[in-house]
Amino acid sequence: MERDKSLSGNREYTNGEITVYWKPVACVHASYCYRELIEVFDPSSRPWVDMKGAPTARIIEVVNMCPTEALTWKWNDEEKNTAIDINQTNHIKFRRPELLKETGKNRGEEPVSVKVMIDGPIVIKGSFTLVSKGNTKDIKQGLISICRCGASDQLPFCDGRHRKVGYTD
Ligand code: SF4
Ligand code: FES
Repeated sequence: MERDKSLSGNREYTNGEITVYWKPVACVHASYCYRELIEVFDPSSRPWVDMKGAPTARIIEVVNMCPTEALTWKWNDEEKNTAIDINQTNHIKFRRPELLKETGKNRGEEPVSVKVMIDGPIVIKGSFTLVSKGNTKDIKQGLISICRCGASDQLPFCDGRHRKVGYTD
């Protein structure tokens, strides 16, 4: 089931047990979701998320791989969320459970990681300086994806167009 939540294009999908939230503005098209589980996350279908495509545990596993939290999830049974969330705010409650452990001061600076996605962008995570066409931008513990196919409308960033143009390595 799909429900349009706002003009921002945020969506939610449920299988009765969990609800998956998708925030398009946070999606960097890193493609972890559909590479791992095309049966559920298929960008060429409408709606693009089919909650009947895999068991709940597998959907949770793949949603948790989303590097930007464009995809998040929560249990439909509020008591299960509360068990996880005992001392947290409502905002935190909807985040991935394993992230709850790393909020606050124990979150250290991670080294920069660069990942070349098969048939897709280069995903760079961490703190670094991006220099492009003479412009400089400092990124602090951030995540960006850089277009490799050349077809993006938002160069140097990936906008997901590599799929439409059929870019392959
Ligand atoms: S950032 Fe990647 S994993 Fe997350 S929703 Fe977008 S394509 Fe999927
Ligand atoms: S690599 Fe994604 S738009 Fe080019």
